[in-house]
Amino acid sequence: MFSARQIFAQVQRRGFAASARQSSKVTVLGAAGGIGQPLSLLLKLNPRVSQLALYDIRLAPGVAADIGHINTKSEVRGYDPTPSGLAEALKGSEIVLIPAGVPRKPGMTRDDLFNTNASIVRDLAKAAADHAPEANILIISNPVNSTVPITAEVFKSKGVYNPKRLFGVTTLDVVRASRFISQLKNTDPANENITVVGGHSGATIVPLLSQAGFNLEGEQLDQYVHRVQFGGDEVVQAKDGAGSATLSMAMAGARFAESLLKAAQGQKNVIEPTFVDSPLYKDQGVEYFASNVELGPNGVEKIHPVGKITDYEQKLLDVCLKDLAGNINKGIKFVKENP
Ligand code: NAD
Ligand code: LMR
Repeated sequence: MFSARQIFAQVQRRGFAASARQSSKVTVLGAAGGIGQPLSLLLKLNPRVSQLALYDIRLAPGVAADIGHINTKSEVRGYDPTPSGLAEALKGSEIVLIPAGVPRKPGMTRDDLFNTNASIVRDLAKAAADHAPEANILIISNPVNSTVPITAEVFKSKGVYNPKRLFGVTTLDVVRASRFISQLKNTDPANENITVVGGHSGATIVPLLSQAGFNLEGEQLDQYVHRVQFGGDEVVQAKDGAGSATLSMAMAGARFAESLLKAAQGQKNVIEPTFVDSPLYKDQGVEYFASNVELGPNGVEKIHPVGKITDYEQKLLDVCLKDLAGNINKGIKFVKENP
């Protein structure tokens, strides 16, 4: 256990380290939503962030006024839902997080969100390509397996696509996988780091428990994998029509943004699983894939292969790859037909 004094000293050290770097503007599109608000709060607490730009089709100036009173150094600004407001929110941004869009209700899959969220993400991606073409773009809006390819297609159509700067945020799967194994094994979840590969929905979420040295078997293994793959449904059902995971997602999104900022500052060995344009399974028609990715000042530094896995995990991966190809192609086709 850390004492309050130790925690305070750690925060001060982090603040000092952060003050030594150039300033980092971070933009949240969808900042007034269930994820957007706590995510913006966590980013306001991050000393590596110097400017926080909040944009939404409603309430962003209010959220910014509220968060802006917190006594950390970053400047917070909320933008009106106009083309110029969106442009200003994006200009000069180093990281753009996109949690804009509708969440699931019980009985829905993430793919059921496609019809609404595909055009929201496409239009925000167009603005990002125009006003922040060099930013790291972090896609949270579901279905991530399709919204990441949608964003890539938009950037390609505008001639500014950089595959090293586009990330589907799958951190919540890693957070869950680590938490759930700690509950089974009675360990400290902070010390668990289970690699999760594939994509971000149902069977495309593949936790690689064996790589962390765990060997669950039989029903216990099936139940664990199912819980990681369908952890989102647990929250959707518990919220009973009021949405999906927001608070744990805000933590996961803030963690991923923090990792990118650390890597941009020159910290080495910053590794997060994330859904990126990946060479790993392109020969099987899968253009994007989540695996451990080393982050650096240019975004993606190195994409790690999946590595040694068990026969059981290989079977999960085979199913994942089949589903993923369909989700990805759906996103690509959407932009081609609805530019
Ligand atoms: P929410 O409805 O609470 O918030 C969404 C926000 O987006 C709202 O404030 C809305 O006004 C805003 N918005 C809608 N259209 C917009 C536009 N064109 N421009 C800017 N803002 C716009 O939903 P939520 O719970 O915050 O979830 C948001 C999305 O994140 C959903 O698609 C959900 O499925 C997804 N999600 C992803 C993960 C993940 O792990 N990647 C986890 C949880 C939720
Ligand atoms: C999650 O994993 O919690 C999110 O993708 C939201 C959802 O729809 O489950």
